[in-house]
Amino acid sequence: MALPHNTSIMSETKRKILVTSALPYANGPIHLGHMVEHIQTDIWARFQRLRGHDCIAVCADDAHGTPIMLKAREQDITPEELIGRMSDSHQADFNDFLINYDNYHSTHSEENRHYSELIYRRLNEAGHISRRSIKQAYDPEAGMFLPDRFIKGDCPRCGTTDQYGDSCENCGATYSATELKNPVSAVSGATPVTKESEHYFFKLGDFEDMLHQWTRGDHTQPEISNKLNEWFEAGLQDWDISRDAPYFGFEIPDAPGKYFYVWLDAPIGYMASFQNYCDKHNINFDDYWTQDSAAELHHFIGKDIAYFHTLFWPAMLQGAGFRTPTAVYCHGFLTVDGQKMSKSRGTFIMARTYLDHLNPEYLRYYYAAKLGPGVDDIDLNLEDFMARVNSDLVGKVVNIASRCAGFINKKHGGKLSGQLSEQALYDNIAAAGESIAALYQQREYSHAMREIMAQADRANQYIDEHKPWVIAKEAGREQDVQDICSVGLNLFKVLITYLKPVLPKLAENAETFLDIEPLTWQSIHSPLTSHTINKFKPLMTRVEQEAIDAMIEDSKENLAATGAKSTGPLADDPISAEINYDDFAKLDLRVVQIVKAQHVEGADKLLRLTLDLGGETRNVFAGIKAAYAPEDLEGRLTVMVANLAPRKMRFGLSEGMVLAAGPGGKDIFILNPDEGAKPGMRVK
Ligand code: 2FM
Ligand code: ZN
Repeated sequence: MALPHNTSIMSETKRKILVTSALPYANGPIHLGHMVEHIQTDIWARFQRLRGHDCIAVCADDAHGTPIMLKAREQDITPEELIGRMSDSHQADFNDFLINYDNYHSTHSEENRHYSELIYRRLNEAGHISRRSIKQAYDPEAGMFLPDRFIKGDCPRCGTTDQYGDSCENCGATYSATELKNPVSAVSGATPVTKESEHYFFKLGDFEDMLHQWTRGDHTQPEISNKLNEWFEAGLQDWDISRDAPYFGFEIPDAPGKYFYVWLDAPIGYMASFQNYCDKHNINFDDYWTQDSAAELHHFIGKDIAYFHTLFWPAMLQGAGFRTPTAVYCHGFLTVDGQKMSKSRGTFIMARTYLDHLNPEYLRYYYAAKLGPGVDDIDLNLEDFMARVNSDLVGKVVNIASRCAGFINKKHGGKLSGQLSEQALYDNIAAAGESIAALYQQREYSHAMREIMAQADRANQYIDEHKPWVIAKEAGREQDVQDICSVGLNLFKVLITYLKPVLPKLAENAETFLDIEPLTWQSIHSPLTSHTINKFKPLMTRVEQEAIDAMIEDSKENLAATGAKSTGPLADDPISAEINYDDFAKLDLRVVQIVKAQHVEGADKLLRLTLDLGGETRNVFAGIKAAYAPEDLEGRLTVMVANLAPRKMRFGLSEGMVLAAGPGGKDIFILNPDEGAKPGMRVK
């Protein structure tokens, strides 16, 4: 891409840069998949600042749309309350992962309403909006149109029941919701009907020439440019930008009951968050967003949302008279141990679960060591993660300081030598800074980490060869020991500067230990001489296998209950909303006797339980096969939720849930009432 690179810090002019990450949806928690992008962005922004540029990073929650509206209803709270809680949880996660956004806002904000209306009006006035009626699935009971993800039914190809309206989890077929057999609304359970309504469209085709030109302008990675050419060949279709009420979003001006589709106002959220930042810091918004702006605008996103950011977004901006992005960078998806993240394997790891067990800088380093400039998926291999962090960060980098500090602290009152005894080695390692900077600039982080570790090897080799621990025992060699360790600590300082975009906390602790001002790329050329350092404290501890195991255990889906997967649009509730007594009283908990327990053909986690409620019999599927043999369960008493709506599963109807405790897998324990309880008794 035609962006500044490989320019020496001395000759670079100060750039004005605005950076964004994709805005996370406000209907679920942050997981390690999200963190790939936020870490990638944060490293880049920190690097730019370290080079002396003016770099502002903004993000926000993507707060609109049907899933958020329904999730709030499900929790019996307002959407505003839901998105407020989510924003708190997202910001806490980013903060604790040391992601340094200058501003974190929301698409449900006055700034975003302003820019969404402004852009829409300008596009409309210029004739880029059209209107026409379309037919869609409608839930007559809930009184709303249904997005595909909210329609369930039998797969038209293989007949598997309970599949979403866009694809089959069993055979992988993709189809449109109208093709599903026996469709039901996931909102109310009603059978959807087809209904017509007027929609508003953005005429993307009006921007074909402009987009062709933009694509050729080196603003995207080669893989994405190829994809864009495919999209051009397929033809640019009008984009449906409206949704009917009820919808959580902004009403379209002069169109009562019509709302902007969440994807219309989502990218505008970048502008809204920046405007909010400008207002707080007295910065001129226009300096960054007018068509003649000299500032740079860089978006980091996942490859799945390239279409929105490389076609709709530049076209909307151009059509409304704003500047277009300098660059859109796509990254790939995250796999864990070579596979898609999985709740049952415990590899669908939430940011918070990770933070409960492990140091955020381990992951920041590991992702950096894996990330390149392309769109390839990256794998978090947990064994490699532990080995890499322990060997590179603890074994190589921090080790340099711990090998040298003791001698300086104990024998020389913390004072470094008056001059560098190995100037050539120092200059050499410092000279690597320009190529390392070019690698950061080009998002070649894995290459940069390799280069930094190669320099760390050279520093360790120097210490190995000069053996201060041997010389320290020889009489009259105090000066030599001080010189060797002073070189070692100066090399450590340079290496920490190189790693500072990735490991800001480690860098801060190193700055405290060395008793120096915050490191910058410029300070690489100022070695410390005759300088007194502080006492050395361990800067990073090793990754322990037990911590990884505990994180996986914590992440395992609680497979008790029906054994149903919680992957639907309403799944993954991170916050259990407080309930009042009336809510609690709605639960009909009963003592039941398991009269029969059977394996379920084709299900690797489920047992089919026949339950006696004191006369009435129920069939329930429970995800407890790893923990119990059927014969161990028969005759036992347990507790069930008796008034849960029956759920149609692949293997039949599940008519309630049995209660169990534990993290999942083998460690799941069904609840056992004391003897004396009888089937059918209510639990109070
Ligand atoms: O895919 C997503 O998670 C969207 N919430 C990203 C929006 S990015 C920008 F357009 F706001
Ligand atoms: Zn199928």
